[in-house]
Amino acid sequence: MSTEINSSEWSRDLAARLSADAVVQWDHPLAKRTTLRVGGRADLYSEPASEEDLRLILQFARERDLPVTLLGRGSNLLIRDAGIRGVVICLARPAFSQIVVEGSRLRCGAGVRLKAVSVEARRAGLAGLEFLEGIPGSVGGALRMNAGAMGGWMFQVVESVRLMDRSGLACDLPVAEVPSQYRSCPLLKTQIAVGAVLVGAIASAPEVAERMAKYSAKRWESQPSQPSAGCIFKNPEEMPAGKLIDELGLKGKRLGGAMVSELHGNFIVNTGAATASDVLNLIEVVREAARSRRGIELETEVQILGED
Ligand code: EPU
Repeated sequence: MSTEINSSEWSRDLAARLSADAVVQWDHPLAKRTTLRVGGRADLYSEPASEEDLRLILQFARERDLPVTLLGRGSNLLIRDAGIRGVVICLARPAFSQIVVEGSRLRCGAGVRLKAVSVEARRAGLAGLEFLEGIPGSVGGALRMNAGAMGGWMFQVVESVRLMDRSGLACDLPVAEVPSQYRSCPLLKTQIAVGAVLVGAIASAPEVAERMAKYSAKRWESQPSQPSAGCIFKNPEEMPAGKLIDELGLKGKRLGGAMVSELHGNFIVNTGAATASDVLNLIEVVREAARSRRGIELETEVQILGED
């Protein structure tokens, strides 16, 4: 039996187990689900409509020994051209996209957009979350990556995380029990963040609005607006990756449809028809130049998933 026939059977079988509001699609194109707009297809794409649906999807994958991949808003993601085997889960349904303000706390689902968090915090007069304003990600993705900008980072504002393990058991953990580091939260490599409680400091709404406007202006003047995956490399100890790539004279360097941004050296943009291979090859060109000419080993920040 071919994989294709299996996949179609899987999608019917899975859909029958889930609630009516869940989404299950076979052979689903993923490029449009990433901000870089490259990459292949998912065998089985799913959006659970509740924690119970999520538990059932995980159970389904376990029964068939299928790999499971979590997708956020795809803003820090490079999916290879042959796509992702097994089950892809995206927490985009309304059950995972709610924000509830409780005093200085924001109880957020993993699918909530970071922009929405910052807007809600501004409305409530809560400071400290302004840096989330222009990060094109979700709360779940930002937890997984400990996303940061403008001197702030996600785990600075987290009070607790609601997690589900691969067997479908959910629990709330205080932030002290969820270790994080620069652009990473190792626990979330195996567990799934389904939500988090974020905390702000009571402030005046205009003061928060002013800081957000400042961050937004800085981002627009220093980062490209073409499709990208945000910063491609982690900043090495020696200097910011963007500065290094700039000094290496690589801004504007093209391979196929991928180009090192002319505005910021640490962004690779899709000029229209880039493939994942174009981007991966350009990443290697940059890494090789940094290694051979400056002795600096660049490590990718962007998550690279799927098959060639
Ligand atoms: N620079 C250059 N040339 C360039 C780019 C940067 O000389 O082409 C210089 C800048 O002038 C500045 C320094 O390098 O002196 C650092 O640049 P920037 O302020 O843009 O910050 P960054 O370190 O490149 C980090 C985060 C970004 C975040 C910005 C703004 C990393 C890898 N990147 O960038 O996060 O938006 O700060 O706070 O930590 C992301 O994670 O995807 C991301 C975009």
